[in-house]
Amino acid sequence: MSPTNPRILPYGEAAIAEAAQVIRAGGCAAVPTETVYGLAADATDSRAVAGIYEAKGRPSFNPLIVHVPDLEAAELIAVFDDDARVLARRFWPGPLTLVLPLRAEAGISPLVTAGLDTIALRVPDHRAMQALLDASGLPLAAPSANASGGISPTRAEHVATSLAGRIPLVIDDGATPAGLESTIVQGRSVLRPGPLSLRDLFPDGRAQIGGNGTIVAPGQLESHYAPGKPLRLNAHEREAGEWLIGFGAVLGDDTLSLRGDLTEAAANLFAALHRADARADGGIAVAPVPELGIGVAINDRLRRAAAPR
Ligand code: TXA
Ligand code: MG
Repeated sequence: MSPTNPRILPYGEAAIAEAAQVIRAGGCAAVPTETVYGLAADATDSRAVAGIYEAKGRPSFNPLIVHVPDLEAAELIAVFDDDARVLARRFWPGPLTLVLPLRAEAGISPLVTAGLDTIALRVPDHRAMQALLDASGLPLAAPSANASGGISPTRAEHVATSLAGRIPLVIDDGATPAGLESTIVQGRSVLRPGPLSLRDLFPDGRAQIGGNGTIVAPGQLESHYAPGKPLRLNAHEREAGEWLIGFGAVLGDDTLSLRGDLTEAAANLFAALHRADARADGGIAVAPVPELGIGVAINDRLRRAAAPR
């Protein structure tokens, strides 16, 4: 593949048709969703899925999320109980991933689930990913479109930089609106915090954060979303050589949200980390972010980004 790859194609019929063709031929293509840009391939084709792992340099024990157009398509791949169906009806399309028992007959590649008998499924709420699902007619495995362990991409340029020379194309439909990966739920456990908070999902409070310890979820990979430079959390001011990412009253070189709005901060988080990584002379410092609502997911990503590598 040429080092000038990926080509960046603006969202439109032609771009979707070309990406669908690449995917139907067993390749992978990057496409925006409402959360982050994903690197999509045919979830029923083991060679295609191997191509995702290879492009990302991803450890093969970390399973992938499969994207489908609607609940009906999801029910062909996984077994839903009443609770799962309630969540799906309420939050799909949207930034919710459900981990459910896999239907073996669905023909999903075992590389997608990394050998587990469960599968992570979601219905994305984004015109580009929906159009690609429609044009390809396939369930699409799609992790975030960045080199493994790096900062997730919320813009086409982030993808192009992180996966330069490794994928053929990226569909550009601007910045992703939510900016953080989907909330992953299994039963009444939240395996990965995300745009939908515990309270959004389970207003009765009968729920918990974290898996049962045997599940391979991002929580077990301590260092993740990591910039190249060291990251210091809960900073109120910058130390020598640092690039400070502010929030609310803490003014930085950059800010997640001047008015202290957590949804705005989530949408800006990864772009701010990409910018800081490019501009900081020394380390990166980040202002405290309240542990409320989507702030829980922001702090989850920040802690992993700051974890020792
Ligand atoms: O918002 C998102 O979810 C984005 C966009 C592209 O849709 N995708 C995404 O995929 O974040 P990825 O592959 O980066 O994250 C998938 C996570 C993995 O870290 C994995 O641990 C968890 O989902 N996962 C996948 N299958 C699982 C399973 N069967 N049981 C438990 N966790 C699972
Ligand atoms: Mg990721």
